Amino acid sequence: MAAIRFEKVQKHFGRGQKRTHALSEINLEIHDREFLAIVGPSGCGKTTCLRLVAGFEMASAGIVSVAGKPVTEPGPDRAVVFQQFALFPWKTVRGNIDLGLRNKGIAAQERTKLVAEVLKLMNLETYAQAFPHRLSGGMQQRVAIARAYVLDPEVLLMDEPFGALDAQTRVVMQEELVRLARVRPRTVLFITHAVEEAVYLADRIAVMTRRPGRIKEIIDVKCMREAEKWDRFERIEDVMDLDSFVHLRTRIWKSLREEKDG
Ligand SMILES: Nc1ncnc2c1ncn2[C@@H]1O[C@H](COP(=O)(O)OP(=O)(O)O)[C@@H](O)[C@H]1O
Ligand SMILES: [Mg+2]
Repeated sequence: MAAIRFEKVQKHFGRGQKRTHALSEINLEIHDREFLAIVGPSGCGKTTCLRLVAGFEMASAGIVSVAGKPVTEPGPDRAVVFQQFALFPWKTVRGNIDLGLRNKGIAAQERTKLVAEVLKLMNLETYAQAFPHRLSGGMQQRVAIARAYVLDPEVLLMDEPFGALDAQTRVVMQEELVRLARVRPRTVLFITHAVEEAVYLADRIAVMTRRPGRIKEIIDVKCMREAEKWDRFERIEDVMDLDSFVHLRTRIWKSLREEKDG
């Protein structure tokens, strides 16, 4: 069974003159514990895809399902990490991470244990009592990821999570995410503008057409990685000059450019 499935999914927004056809027909299966990245031109409907899986929007036609169940609303099996860190400024790092557990009605003692675990996992222990505004963008995003992970969701939905970070912090966070994927594998739907990021992180990459978006092609990065004997657990600078990496990057760039120019 697919972890996430889009079946003939369409999405329109608004009515009459203001009607926008965001998604034409999305067919896509994301496997259990797979890391799938979506890339596509701006406005092609990437965020809309993610919001459909999150249960923030409903499809106009077709079915989006998670673990075989059609999505009708948000749920604890899916956690979302946005580009804007969306932390509560009046709560400490610990408070922010604890909040979701509190809302789930988990007892205090258990919460303390789970929060401590995730603080350790994300190297955030020394920041537990800090307020978000004291933290760098990278640290804030680390807290946002911790907040998602602590709920132990099956599916992580990430919408350009590193898009607001500077280049160096971004690489650190990419490596961090890879490390997390190893110690706590989850199904990840990851949206990005950055082609290199997608090639480094993803098992497969779905390239979308311009709006109304559909899946134009799916590229199997994992297969290539295994054939060429490199791993996303290696540092990004150690793999980004390899022929296979460059080849994939160029291929995806060309595919995206066709959508811009066409
Ligand atoms: N709530 C909404 N109401 C009206 N139009 C929307 C809404 N959300 C998205 N759209 C439109 O749908 C299209 C796809 O948007 P989006 O999924 O955000 O694209 P992307 O994330 O690929 O940049 C865009 O034209 C956008 O303006
Ligand atoms: Mg978007």
